[in-house]
Amino acid sequence: MKEGKEIKRYTITAALPYANGPKHIGHLAGAYIPADVYVRFLRLFKKNVLFVCGSDEHGTAIPNQALKEGTTSTEIIDKYHALIRDSLYKMGISFDVYHRTSEPIHHKTSQELFLNLYNKGLLTEETSEQYFDPKANVFLADRYIQGTCPKCGNPNAYGDQCEKCGSTLSPRELINPRSTLSGDVPVLKPTKHWYLPLQQYEDWLRKWVLESHADDWKPNVYGQCKSWIDAGLQPRAMTRDLDWGIKVPLPNAEGKVLYVWFDAPIGYISATRAFFQEMADGKLEYATPQRDFGRVNSEDWKLYWQSDDTKLVHFIGKDNIVFHCIIFPVMLHASGEYILPDNVPANEFMNLEGDKMSTSRGWSIEMHDYLAEFPDKPDVLRYALLTNLPETKDSEFTWKDFQSKNNNELVAIFGNFVNRALVLTEKYFGDKVPVCGPLNKTDEGLIAEVKEFPGRIATAIEAYKFREATALLMDLARTGNKYLAETEPWKLVKTDMARVSTILNLALQVSANLAVLAEPFLPFSSKKLKGMLQLKDLQWSDTGSVELLPAGHVLGRASLLFEKIEDTVIEAQIKKLMDTKQPPVAATPSKPLKPTVSIDDFAKLDIRIGKVVAAEKMEKSNKLLKLTINSGLDTRIILSGIAQHYTPEELVGKQVTFIANLAPRKMMGLESQGMILSAENSDGKLKLLFPAGEVDPGSTVS
Ligand code: MF3
Ligand code: ZN
Repeated sequence: MKEGKEIKRYTITAALPYANGPKHIGHLAGAYIPADVYVRFLRLFKKNVLFVCGSDEHGTAIPNQALKEGTTSTEIIDKYHALIRDSLYKMGISFDVYHRTSEPIHHKTSQELFLNLYNKGLLTEETSEQYFDPKANVFLADRYIQGTCPKCGNPNAYGDQCEKCGSTLSPRELINPRSTLSGDVPVLKPTKHWYLPLQQYEDWLRKWVLESHADDWKPNVYGQCKSWIDAGLQPRAMTRDLDWGIKVPLPNAEGKVLYVWFDAPIGYISATRAFFQEMADGKLEYATPQRDFGRVNSEDWKLYWQSDDTKLVHFIGKDNIVFHCIIFPVMLHASGEYILPDNVPANEFMNLEGDKMSTSRGWSIEMHDYLAEFPDKPDVLRYALLTNLPETKDSEFTWKDFQSKNNNELVAIFGNFVNRALVLTEKYFGDKVPVCGPLNKTDEGLIAEVKEFPGRIATAIEAYKFREATALLMDLARTGNKYLAETEPWKLVKTDMARVSTILNLALQVSANLAVLAEPFLPFSSKKLKGMLQLKDLQWSDTGSVELLPAGHVLGRASLLFEKIEDTVIEAQIKKLMDTKQPPVAATPSKPLKPTVSIDDFAKLDIRIGKVVAAEKMEKSNKLLKLTINSGLDTRIILSGIAQHYTPEELVGKQVTFIANLAPRKMMGLESQGMILSAENSDGKLKLLFPAGEVDPGSTVS
């Protein structure tokens, strides 16, 4: 976006979810809810905004899932496309179009962009050795290959990414690679591919990201880009040997398809094309326009992607940063036809009850499951997620917090306030808004505060600070509540009806402000409240005023906006979660139980606590640490195979558990006088056993 240039329209995208399974509430918090708040906010200013999303239906993730479910890739994408789309719309995510990358128009758009780059000579062709599974007779790209992550040791990292530490990987970097198809060790075989030479765009990226977006991109996003660029960019293959995906539009490219991360972001563009085509033809299939677009032309998609008075914003989760901030922008820039994102406000991850959310491990709350359990409460989940968004660091969802956000905030503050305003009005004045008489200091204080809120909330939203914006919305309700508590209209009914009339008039005005300002956050409740107030459609710019409802205006019927959620309901959800939790995928299957031993046999072992007084790496061994232990009996040397798991520095001063009467053993020319005890996690990581509190060296363990 050129500095100072007037923005004429907005293209807002939310990451296209892989149609390989249901999506969970962490996805909602990462991309879809923030994007939706932003878009609804813009619409309240009558801005020209288009909100785009759809299913990502290529890549090895799809056939991999088909294999797991014993079905075809086509069945997988059809099933999950519908499930995810319906859940997102039911959560109130107001896409104007929800397309899919399996559609011909997307294949065409992707192939065109590929050819555009190819014909300009911007792709390099290279033959290299890649892993191949002879049994399955396929090359093993991305999710078809697993092995140990070279960065963190996770034994189940994929060929494109380690889900544990988030590193981007290539199959050749994996330690002990294995095919996810046959489980076999793959062999290397030469194959030809087309590469995007990212290294040639380094200077351009430095200028565009590091210089021009130093101030407006979020630190987590900027930081990731910087470390990528600083590490030096490599050519990246834009094609794969696969039979699922978009055919490479070149002769002699049999069996080759476009890399999923080449085609998926182009999905935003093809969805936009499809939207305008459908709107122009008057036949809506994927388009669900959420505002009046007026008369449109099928070529209008270009305005949203090629006109530099358009502001493009990508909402994504942190695992998508490099693709949206580096690779896709390079593609767009190299094509010479497209605008670039103005911002990419990526979120971190949301954990669940103390553990990483994961559908495959059964530790997640799927959107469709939530909606089945709480069909009338999309807003409660929106609120619980919004107040807890992982905007600057990972955050955590707990059912208890969900309950308390509902009971203590939505019910006790927001709902309680508007309910009191409406019910008291009904009681004393029937169905009409009472007159606002002369104002006192308290009223003026309230009016001054109300005036400030729309601007404050807007500033937060414009800075992509949705947590803060949500907190401010609740503060407005709090302000209203406080006003009623202070003025106590219910006590004045006998003595000063004119005062009661003014107070309730103002309370209703605050409720009307809440109804409009809540729309981006709590769209369903906003609509319900507007119905109760019989409020016509207002814009953001109308708010901040206490003249939204004229005296005499006829109100609708009051009903409860939110209802209390009981402990039993929450306990049932927690239990359900615990019941579906899968044991962690073991690196090696958990070891079989050894034969029973007698207590006497056990008693022969002398297990003690000792203090590490010195620790150092063993020369020529990357496994062993040499530990000097104060055992309470003596000072002894124990060699321990934990060098991959602990640094010497972090062990000095620690109390460890060891076997004191094990026959000494020679290792690497040194005698080890005992054995340090540790637990082996399923991922192969060792964790030492420390006593829960300081004990004397030599304390025995039994
Ligand atoms: N399907 C990807 C994911 O879930 C996101 C694709 S975003 C797009 O991580 F830009 F490529 F569409
Ligand atoms: Zn890793």
